[in-house]
Amino acid sequence: MSKSKVLVLMSGSIAAYKACSLISKLVQNNYEVQIAASPSALQFVGAATLEGLTGRPLLSDNFQTGHMMSHIHAIRWADLVIAVPATAHLINRMAQGIGDDLLTTLFLAHDFKKPFLVAPAMNTSMYLHPTTQKSLATLKSWGLEILETASGVLACGEEGWGKLLDPDLIFAEIQNRKVLPSSPVEAHVKSVGAPRVLITSGGTQEPIDQVRVLSNKSTGSTGALLAETLWNFGMDVTFVTSAQGRRPQSQVRTLEFETFKDLQRHLKYELQNENYDFVIHAAAVSDFSIDKIEVAGESLEQGQKISSEADVTLKLRRNPKLITEIRKWSKNPRVKLIGFKMTANEDRTQCLKAVEKVFQKSNPDLVVHNDMSEMSWKTGKHLFHIYQNPQTAPVDCSSKEDFCLKLSRWIGTGELL
Ligand SMILES: Cc1cc2nc3c(=O)[nH]c(=O)nc-3n(C[C@H](O)[C@H](O)[C@H](O)COP(=O)(O)O)c2cc1C
Repeated sequence: MSKSKVLVLMSGSIAAYKACSLISKLVQNNYEVQIAASPSALQFVGAATLEGLTGRPLLSDNFQTGHMMSHIHAIRWADLVIAVPATAHLINRMAQGIGDDLLTTLFLAHDFKKPFLVAPAMNTSMYLHPTTQKSLATLKSWGLEILETASGVLACGEEGWGKLLDPDLIFAEIQNRKVLPSSPVEAHVKSVGAPRVLITSGGTQEPIDQVRVLSNKSTGSTGALLAETLWNFGMDVTFVTSAQGRRPQSQVRTLEFETFKDLQRHLKYELQNENYDFVIHAAAVSDFSIDKIEVAGESLEQGQKISSEADVTLKLRRNPKLITEIRKWSKNPRVKLIGFKMTANEDRTQCLKAVEKVFQKSNPDLVVHNDMSEMSWKTGKHLFHIYQNPQTAPVDCSSKEDFCLKLSRWIGTGELL
């Protein structure tokens, strides 16, 4: 069982010695602790104590040889971050976006996807100073969790608020956050960096006239859940979706399309200009666009409203298959491609033939197949089959959630289980 990882940002307060007992308690309770201490903190407790407590090399200097990227790696490595003791100086600089030392650059590299606690410790006047209170409010508004301070006699002899909360109470706060050890996917993402994933989702709409469209039944819910799941694992996701399609709840970067042409334009631009590691092409793309409309034998101008009084003939033009273009457009020649194939109540042999055709024509790394007979729009129960090639049996997924987790694992670790 892997351990939960806590990054401690220690700044220069006399309460640093109390943070040592918190660190000791965390280690005794099976947490892995990494300390980043400011030079001032090291005036209060020695590097030997801090390294001795955690068994890990201390981080203190942004420009320490061999640790040049620690300001990114350490913050990604952690499952929870706590600034303890947090000085007025550190709190005010964090709220100002200053990044002139290791602790503040670690904060700037924080992506707000994990708990970040701040345990202030300072003289009452420093604590109640308008600047400090404003900074604490700013940090809170950004989602950091500001712990209370205790009241009592301070190191300076004055009495009041600003004392560091009792280390046992801070320990309980950390435990309450239920910091779970990273899954293999998160651990992989943390160690090698977040893969960039482009997801297309939802269905295209081809306008027939001002009010009518040619479209399909896609809701975009699978794509949205995938985006959400990958984002939660710490991946860098771009979500390209239809205007009416479902959206992930998280703040995933999202681009919108309506027609086949819009989607084609977005895909081409993104792939040619950005370095994506994975493309998940889950959008239901119309195989046809409207070529010509005839009402009672007469051609209708594009954009004109069709009267309901006469019979209408639509001539459809075949659209090219976008999936076959993805590798050609991709700036990253090693991009991994995941295609989707839906079949309509076909038997096993026909399904397999359809999957085989996608492999032959578009050379994807995976094909995700589902048949209409295995999907219930009413209950939302969908079965998915993930093929690595048409010769070997697929990995079956019993629900959308199961599918999203299996695909995330493959993206994160290369394992398809
Ligand atoms: C003996 C002593 C005790 C201090 N205690 C605190 C403290 O409890 N809280 C605080 O905000 N500053 C305290 N300071 C001031 C900070 O150490 C000072 O602002 C320092 O620049 C903080 O640097 P850092 O935030 O980068 O660690 C103390 C200074 C001294 C000399």
